[in-house]
Amino acid sequence: MIRLQQVAKIYSLGAVEVRALDGVTLPIGPGEFVALVGPSGCGKTTLLNLMAGIDRPTSGEVWLEGERLDRLSDDSLTCLRRSKVGIVYQFFNLLPTLTAKENVALPLLLNGLQRSDIEGRVERGLQRVGLMHRAEHWPHELSGGEQQRVAIARAIVAEPRVVLADEPTGNLDSVAGEAVLDLLARLHREQGQTIVLATHSQEAMKRAGRIVYLRDGRIEGLEER
Ligand SMILES: Nc1ncnc2c1ncn2[C@@H]1O[C@H](COP(=O)(O)OP(=O)(O)O)[C@@H](O)[C@H]1O
Ligand SMILES: [Mg+2]
Repeated sequence: MIRLQQVAKIYSLGAVEVRALDGVTLPIGPGEFVALVGPSGCGKTTLLNLMAGIDRPTSGEVWLEGERLDRLSDDSLTCLRRSKVGIVYQFFNLLPTLTAKENVALPLLLNGLQRSDIEGRVERGLQRVGLMHRAEHWPHELSGGEQQRVAIARAIVAEPRVVLADEPTGNLDSVAGEAVLDLLARLHREQGQTIVLATHSQEAMKRAGRIVYLRDGRIEGLEER
């Protein structure tokens, strides 16, 4: 489903080079639930951004469903990302001037779906995260946990095979965090989506089938569960 082959990512800040990733090789199978774990700055976000085609490696190969992302044009990457990948962020990243429903509809609008098709899908998305009753609310009217569940609905509404989540519970209290993790685990179980989750949370790690430990841009260890 996803394969990273000898991936390096170097950021140049003036004369200083930061090796965010340094020779990462990691295959992830369809339907896996993988947790990326490691101290702040170890490269988790960089790794997710490469898998999402948001960023390109300095060297090495990144494959997603049989396509080599590091060789695609920017336009092809954007298309692929819209159809194949759903992304969940630590700070939700909902658009504040759109309602919950409109936020969830956004990926479908960008994918060029007809309005008549969008309505039903958005409802199903919000139902899946248990927030149909908040459809008309603005993000600022929702709790952090609710905002994150709307963000998950937005991530899955186009039915991507891969969901990438970057510390999705990092900004939530433990009860709201549990609800978000339960939701991701249920999506994984019921829809068979491939999930890659960067996290510091023990609770999140418990739900993963495999834990990848990162340190200084390298894989330090793997744990099968
Ligand atoms: N856009 C960037 N420019 C320069 N350095 C960056 C950039 N993004 C990340 N880094 C550096 O790369 C390393 C890995 O960062 P990151 O992937 O965000 O780690 P994590 O998500 O595990 O905290 C860090 O040293 C960080 O400072
Ligand atoms: Mg990060």
